[in-house]
Amino acid sequence: MPISSSLMADDAIRQTIQQLPQGFWDFAAANTKEWTHGYHSYPAMMIPQVARNLIAIIQQHQPGIHTLLDPFMGSGTSLVEGILAGIHAAGSDLNPLSRLITLAKTTAWDPQLLQWHTEKLLDYVNRVQVSEADWPDFDNVEFWFKPVVIADLTRLKQGIERVIPETSRPFFWVAFSNTVRWVSNSRNQEFKLYRLDKDHLTQWNPDVLATFRRVVERNQIGNARLWERQPLPSVELYAHNAMDLSVLPAETFDLMLTSPPYGDSHTTVAYGQFSRLSLQWLNLADAADGPAPHKLDQAMLGGKSSKELQHALPSPTLTTALNKITDQDKRRAREVLSFYQDLDTTLQEIARVMRPGSYQCWVVGNRTVKKVQLLTDRIITELSERYGVIPVVSFTRVIPNKRMPKENSPTNQIGDKVATMNGEQIFILRKQ
Ligand SMILES: C[S@@+](CC[C@H](N)C(=O)[O-])C[C@H]1O[C@@H](n2cnc3c(N)ncnc32)[C@H](O)[C@@H]1O
Repeated sequence: MPISSSLMADDAIRQTIQQLPQGFWDFAAANTKEWTHGYHSYPAMMIPQVARNLIAIIQQHQPGIHTLLDPFMGSGTSLVEGILAGIHAAGSDLNPLSRLITLAKTTAWDPQLLQWHTEKLLDYVNRVQVSEADWPDFDNVEFWFKPVVIADLTRLKQGIERVIPETSRPFFWVAFSNTVRWVSNSRNQEFKLYRLDKDHLTQWNPDVLATFRRVVERNQIGNARLWERQPLPSVELYAHNAMDLSVLPAETFDLMLTSPPYGDSHTTVAYGQFSRLSLQWLNLADAADGPAPHKLDQAMLGGKSSKELQHALPSPTLTTALNKITDQDKRRAREVLSFYQDLDTTLQEIARVMRPGSYQCWVVGNRTVKKVQLLTDRIITELSERYGVIPVVSFTRVIPNKRMPKENSPTNQIGDKVATMNGEQIFILRKQ
């Protein structure tokens, strides 16, 4: 795209966003589980309506968007919205559970076949007997599940393997994984693995088959809607570390839409811990192409702490914050640095695979370490500059039910306003 038309598109995008009513991005009353978005919980999910509107705004001002990339796809929110908008979507994530969920959510399964398979499966499960010899033998299985629950999950798993054809299994594995989460002895409201306390555990008698059936029925409703929307654009899913997208050719994608991790898994969201029980049940634990579940968090951004506090990252915002943290706690400063060093590597990779003139939509949460706020939106913007990527617009989305300053006005000065943990920063960059 010629420079002048890119600048015009930048202006038009800024104007469209400025003209939106106050509170437009809150989506406090929106149904975030529509389409296939409700298949499976996942930490720090993007709000589908945020993804949808960002895609629509870019499409409005930059026609001819054919391909979308999310290098941290998580549960695939941006990919689902991408294909609904008629765009071929590619996503990558280190977490095998992420890829399974995204595959199920972006596939339109034949509803009649699903119904037929469900009936066959439940019939099998009701008839089959299993013994302890059939139980999975991963570490601590009896710590995380009651014996009767293990037996029911084993029947269910065996049923999926024996009754459901391989091509249809992802839909059922996702329902199974969601069931595993709900019937385990972990505290369900939390993404980290904490065991229920003694009192709660005594009372805990989850019904595995009823839970599974409910999840399947709910997911069938989402699938039926997607089925109606066919033909759908293609979807490609990868297991790549976002720091190394070398299998993807340069200048491939027309649009990037992503929400990266807030910080290292150790001190922020532990995606590996969230997924561990499912991965163990699904035997995805031993996937040859990825880290073992208990090593997953270490493999993610900032998983290995930096040994040095010296750095050459060209972000004044990061340097100021790091200096303040270093004064209080050198170890924490090294952890923070390693996260941004890894993030910087991904920025270079993302810039490489994006086509010139393409937009990058980022949704990030700014966190605080040692009372020092890490303005990740501003840091990403500053770091991206040397990769030929420039800021277009930035604004704050108020997260409903969380207290935060009312300020919500867009500007092209990324990170210009008071950003708090209770909001997320949305910003758009463009590769020159
Ligand atoms: C905030 S979540 C994405 C959530 C997603 N937008 C959604 O709606 O579900 C960030 C994702 O980044 C992944 N991740 C972290 N470090 C990664 C890395 N180095 N390479 C690829 N994925 C990574 C995590 O597994 C997690 O799924």
